[in-house]
Amino acid sequence: MVDKILSASHQEGDFEALSIRPQTLAEYIGQETVKEMIDIFIRAAKKRRESLDHVLLYGPPGLGKTTLAHIIANEVGVNIKITSGPTIEKSGDLAVLLTSLEPGDILFIDEIHRLPKVVEEVLYPAMEDFAIDLIVGKDHTTKAIRVDLPPFTLIGSTTRFGDLTAPLRDRFGVVHKLEYYDQEALEKICERTARLYDTTITPESVIEIARRSRGTPRITNRLFRRVRDFADVLNDGIIDNEITDTALTKLQIDPLGLDQIDYDYLNGLIDRFKGGPVGIESLASSIAEEVTTLEEVTEPFLLKIGFIARTPRGRIATELAYKHLNKRFQGSLFE
Ligand code: ADE
Repeated sequence: MVDKILSASHQEGDFEALSIRPQTLAEYIGQETVKEMIDIFIRAAKKRRESLDHVLLYGPPGLGKTTLAHIIANEVGVNIKITSGPTIEKSGDLAVLLTSLEPGDILFIDEIHRLPKVVEEVLYPAMEDFAIDLIVGKDHTTKAIRVDLPPFTLIGSTTRFGDLTAPLRDRFGVVHKLEYYDQEALEKICERTARLYDTTITPESVIEIARRSRGTPRITNRLFRRVRDFADVLNDGIIDNEITDTALTKLQIDPLGLDQIDYDYLNGLIDRFKGGPVGIESLASSIAEEVTTLEEVTEPFLLKIGFIARTPRGRIATELAYKHLNKRFQGSLFE
């Protein structure tokens, strides 16, 4: 029963990636402010021999929210149980999980914004009072009994902070947004991964892989593995500039890291909707993509690099986007 609602993650390469995941805050590259704060909170909780306050991590996918949760568990020295919002369908599922925790344990709920409302309501007393109210009996003989839980730490993770209800949001004592990584951090991550895989790589290849990673370590590691595939087959395993260029060109990752979905998005916005403004639903259906993928994965990066902007009437493409796609910009009334 517990196994059904505890989930492994299913992202590409994660099986392998587990071994290269940093295990300590010291090994974790980037997110300096978040790291510094979490370090203090962990040390304070340890000093007082209390469980760490509940932590909410949010931000675009692939920036290390799950990794940080594992690191926190490791640094505090407790077990971590991992599940996700959509996996917990009934309040009973969550009750089983909560009652199986040992004192101080961490419960990690990925995509916490997707918890069903009835399940979320079980979390409120669990987070606040370390207790849940179980309904026992049938029909007119039902009654609620309060079951105490061991003190535990909930770590919630979400790509959609705005979708969290206020009562849930307010019950987290520690709330951090993970930001896109800068070039230097991504280079360090790529070098670290190459070291762990015992792979020879040129400094220029590191720079190029980092540059095309759209600020996202998961993409750095994915690109590294694909380039390494080319190197293994064609170049005795050595990642030099030429093999990197060949691989990245074949993978159709452009110099800014934009991929096919980004191009579909921008071409759609510019060619079919005259650069906008257009609502996300219309744009998504015109390019046959899911609204959620566009909102959670594609748009945050395009916003970050200033290729699109949000206006009250919808999305617009900026002059930068037109330039990057070699299209003529005719000016916009909405900028
Ligand atoms: N691998 C993936 N993300 C990482 C990070 N932030 N630091 C070190 N290694 C990583």
